[in-house]
Amino acid sequence: MLLRCLGVLLLLHIVDLWSVTADNSLITLPERDTNAVLYFETVLDPNDKLHLYWIVDYEEETVTFELRARVSDHDWIGVGFSDRGEINNADLCILWTDRKRKNRFQDVYTDESGFVTVDDHDDCHLLSMKRRGFVTRYAWSRKFDTCDNQDYYLEDGTTHIVYAVGRGPIRRLDGINLAKEIHGFQRVQLLKNVMPNPPFPEDTKTITIHNDKVAVPNVETTYYCTLHRLPPEFENKNHIIQYSSAIQEGSEGLVHHMEVFHCEVEADKKLPPWKGPCSSPEKPKILEACKRVLAAWAMGALPFTYPEEAGLPIGGPEFSRYVMLEVHYNNPELKEGVIDSSGIKLTYTPSLREYDAGVMELGLEYTNKMAIPPHQADFKLTGYCVAECTRVGLPAKGIVIFGSQLHTHLTGTKVYTKHIRGSAELPELNRDNHYSTHFQEIRRLKRQVRILPGDSLLTTCHYSTMDRENITLGGYAISEEMCVNYVHYYPKSDLEVCKSSIDTKVLGSYFRYMKQYNDEATSESKGVDENYQSIHWSQANADFLYHLYSSAPLSMQCNQSSGDRFPGYWNGTPKTEILYPLPPQKRRCTSAGAGKSYIDAEEEEGEE
Ligand SMILES: *[C@@H]1O[C@H](CO)[C@@H](O)[C@H](O)[C@H]1NC(C)=O
Ligand SMILES: *[C@@H]1O[C@H](CO)[C@@H](O)[C@H](O)[C@H]1NC(C)=O
Repeated sequence: MLLRCLGVLLLLHIVDLWSVTADNSLITLPERDTNAVLYFETVLDPNDKLHLYWIVDYEEETVTFELRARVSDHDWIGVGFSDRGEINNADLCILWTDRKRKNRFQDVYTDESGFVTVDDHDDCHLLSMKRRGFVTRYAWSRKFDTCDNQDYYLEDGTTHIVYAVGRGPIRRLDGINLAKEIHGFQRVQLLKNVMPNPPFPEDTKTITIHNDKVAVPNVETTYYCTLHRLPPEFENKNHIIQYSSAIQEGSEGLVHHMEVFHCEVEADKKLPPWKGPCSSPEKPKILEACKRVLAAWAMGALPFTYPEEAGLPIGGPEFSRYVMLEVHYNNPELKEGVIDSSGIKLTYTPSLREYDAGVMELGLEYTNKMAIPPHQADFKLTGYCVAECTRVGLPAKGIVIFGSQLHTHLTGTKVYTKHIRGSAELPELNRDNHYSTHFQEIRRLKRQVRILPGDSLLTTCHYSTMDRENITLGGYAISEEMCVNYVHYYPKSDLEVCKSSIDTKVLGSYFRYMKQYNDEATSESKGVDENYQSIHWSQANADFLYHLYSSAPLSMQCNQSSGDRFPGYWNGTPKTEILYPLPPQKRRCTSAGAGKSYIDAEEEEGEE
């Protein structure tokens, strides 16, 4: 509790300082100051009238918020949460002024259509409030779990913060329809990692690998590849300790994700230049060697910083200085004439850290063998990294995973990775119950996880295809689907891809079965796409497919960084069985804390 009060004081204090110097501009933490208070912030509305700051107290399981609002004097302001950013079925704290000019702060929820009801249990605790002219600032606290079913449960992963504002003073909140007022939402990782970033060494430098005025094609999906050669200083080994996006202004909505791949060829080999679509038949064959992931970024991601003990190796006498930048342009509006020079900024140092870090792909193979039927509210697919593969691919002492980026395309709603040892489930690697393809950060894990040879990692994605008429196939296009967890770990091992899909033969028998016993137009002469599209996707057929995926053996991609499979037989691989699952997560509910329906807040006329 003391910690929390202290935090609030600090937070208010900091905001005070800012208001003098830079009330309207974005304020960022000084990068090197590790002693800075760990607060976070986000713009809520497009005009930055509502700016939210927050700190997380993991001991008390409480978030303390502070809002700086530029609204008229008696306007009411609501800030809260909902599952996916909608203002209906949301949970908010509303600050409002009644007809007697008294300020009130109340816990409310909205129904299916956005109508407000005041909550019986008040879980919005106003801590402080200041009003000066058109700027209102107030702080409140909220438990992660209030144990009130009308309240949103704050979880790890993505949180959709919703807001609404309207004219005041008003007589009461009940009956206001927030859907009819100004409202919106912002995605954030609310329960952020509060470990400070390690300081950068003195000799830290940056380099940006970016496109050079690429004319973005007017088609929905383009994977654009450009070959780059790193400067001679990379003849020596360096460690990348941070990477971030460098998106050209105006391209923000267009660049869906970017990756920098290293070309796995001899250091002195010269490669032919290339810029153009990644899958162009004119792209020289040898450039297929450019497939080891060095850095990745996807829409919404903040800079990713390595832990103090590890860095991503780059350069050295054996290291080819060629890298390939791949930019996924997503252009559904088929815009023409866009010229883009976006790329990825690498922060690196020659002062090597203890371990070399690596990136590994978990989840589903990029293949049309896996598919999601239409009109499904919640269809699950699971990709397996089986024990047989980690046994041949990982070092005896295992690896430590410290970061993760979850990845699906448009229909993904939830992603998590389970960790199995023997047949017992260990705590999950990570989970996002409110995943959005528009917010794919590479996140430092709050708890680093050691994976031993023989462990299995099961990555599950949930999809909603309610608004789709046709089956959604696995694949590269944004309209197709993926299920991937890119994990960042040390020490670097040779295992780069540990993913699965349904065993090919079993899928073939399924299509034969659907023809023979279900009268579907599947056929042995059709390809996988066409076969899936030939099936009439009734709910019964969708359920049957789900059961097939849940029981069929796997075809494994257990690949080395060279791109070759590890030796072994990787078809018909049995699924990982979980005989001892984790007990369901207990919610820590106490009966204390609930009670008052609202708190009167005295208006403080700021004397600053
Ligand atoms: C669905 O598939 C059919 C047949 O393949 C195609 O003609 C139609 O355009 C597709 N509909 C949508 C919405 O993609
Ligand atoms: C894995 O290895 C196989 C065999 O070399 C190859 O066909 C496949 O493309 C590889 N997959 C990935 C994702 O690298």
